[in-house]
Amino acid sequence: MGPKGTRGKSPRILAALGLAALTASLPAWAFFHPAQAFPRGAVASDNAEASAAGASVLRAGGNAVDAAIATALALGVASPSSSGFGGGGFATVCTRDGACTFIDFRETAPAALTVARIRAGSGPRPSGVGGLAVGVPGEPLGFTHLSRTRGRLPLSRVVAPAVALAQRGITVTPWLAARARDDAANLSLDPFLSRVWLPGGRAVEAGVRVRRAALGATLARYGREGEGFVRGAFARAVAAAASARGGVITAEDVAGYRPVEREPLRGAFRGYTVVTAPYPSAGGLVVLQTLAMLEGASAPELLPGSAAYLHRLAESWRGSFDDRARYVGDPANPAVVPASSLLAPERMARRRARFDPSRAQPVTIDDPARDRGTTHLCVMDAEGTVVSLTTTVNDLFGARLAVPSMDVLLNDEVDDFSLGEGTSYGLAASPANALAPGRRPASSMAPTVILRDGRPVGCVGGAGGPRIATATTQVLLNLLLHGMDPEAAVSAPRAHHQGAPDELRVEAEVAEDVRASLRARGHAVVASPPLAVTQALWVVGEGAARRVLAASDPRKHGAPAGH
Ligand code: DON
Repeated sequence: MGPKGTRGKSPRILAALGLAALTASLPAWAFFHPAQAFPRGAVASDNAEASAAGASVLRAGGNAVDAAIATALALGVASPSSSGFGGGGFATVCTRDGACTFIDFRETAPAALTVARIRAGSGPRPSGVGGLAVGVPGEPLGFTHLSRTRGRLPLSRVVAPAVALAQRGITVTPWLAARARDDAANLSLDPFLSRVWLPGGRAVEAGVRVRRAALGATLARYGREGEGFVRGAFARAVAAAASARGGVITAEDVAGYRPVEREPLRGAFRGYTVVTAPYPSAGGLVVLQTLAMLEGASAPELLPGSAAYLHRLAESWRGSFDDRARYVGDPANPAVVPASSLLAPERMARRRARFDPSRAQPVTIDDPARDRGTTHLCVMDAEGTVVSLTTTVNDLFGARLAVPSMDVLLNDEVDDFSLGEGTSYGLAASPANALAPGRRPASSMAPTVILRDGRPVGCVGGAGGPRIATATTQVLLNLLLHGMDPEAAVSAPRAHHQGAPDELRVEAEVAEDVRASLRARGHAVVASPPLAVTQALWVVGEGAARRVLAASDPRKHGAPAGH
């Protein structure tokens, strides 16, 4: 049963959850706000100005693809620590008749980049900060491809709200101010970024207006000239900016970038079809393996927030992240093992058989994970097309390297490759995810669309490194299994396990009795700051009663918009 999304639902949900879940202390804000409901179409992003930009394109007659591009470009303007024109991502697009495709506009490795070159680089972490960190940006040509093949309005119209926002100036959110403070040491390495985000040597304050005129001009030119601009002036400027800080990316790398259309992964769950990210992401694999591992679980094991439920999820995630470390990468890498083999019903049945409801199984240990430079958005238009899009610069402010003349921040997606001793998100070293020219690094991003009876009814996805996969899974289960509306689904407390390190991270709202019960099963329970940032949509009703419910994760203070 899907969510209904009314304020009156909250008491019913609470009653259904019962005492055990109440002791899991769902945070009060999980139920204070019902998801916002819009009669025609809606956008859920993690920034209110960006959601408004997307909604304005829907109102102007754009479809979900146009609005998703407009929202993503506006996110790059308003929330540059999380994504932008110099990054890349994935989008799962499903039309109202349930025809789905996956657009991979993830960054690729520059032709001349090698592990030896990175090891010889300067600075504490050359794969994460500076010129060598920069992957070939995928967002610009990904969006021209999306616009040309599936958009309705001209690109020049689609970029307009982001251009206007850049020209009029963004209002620095408390989130962005905090990120600039956190990352001041890295930002100070780039003179342009220091000027904009560390004025007078101190991180920009919340509430301040920052005009981004050069970025506005860049996006306006992109709208007018499209691919020609990206393959020409933009490509040259990226190469020059990266080279000035030790990079090897060339204008040819940028000009030769190709987005790829892939078959999304699909799984069945409780009468729904879950359409999600294929390789090079491991995100969809984690989502679908978790759903498969819940087959046959008893009702108490499915009580959200309970120790039995979190134990089931954690045990599933251990197996999934072990698979990721061994088998997942760019499908062009011969060392990769196809997701269909990893999801094979017999294999999942063997895994279920090994599951012990009273004990955690051992895994290997590695570094802790982080989250920072990614954003997820969901759009549904009046016709019922859904775009679920995650875009990233990887780390906070990417490579902390800007193309100064264009105010474009470049990504550090090179850091997502396995460069010898595991990735900086603490993910284990993996030959399947080895660096090679032109290759895409493995990812956790999992833009997901939910179909019922062959029609899109929902959208989920998130930001937060490896936590994307586990957070997306939990929000999905909140929608499909626990009957929550999108607001409750994205708000409810979360847990995370990624195999290595062998820790079950839980958010502050997971109560001590639940933690104790998980410890008794053998989990190393670790209190965690907020785990990932998710957005979700869900459609209810038919005809005049149809409403698109939209929710932005309270963990990042975003807000949806619609019409
Ligand atoms: O593709 C990936 O999995 C990472 N580059 C995502 C990084 C991320 O989510 C950072 N956080 N918000």
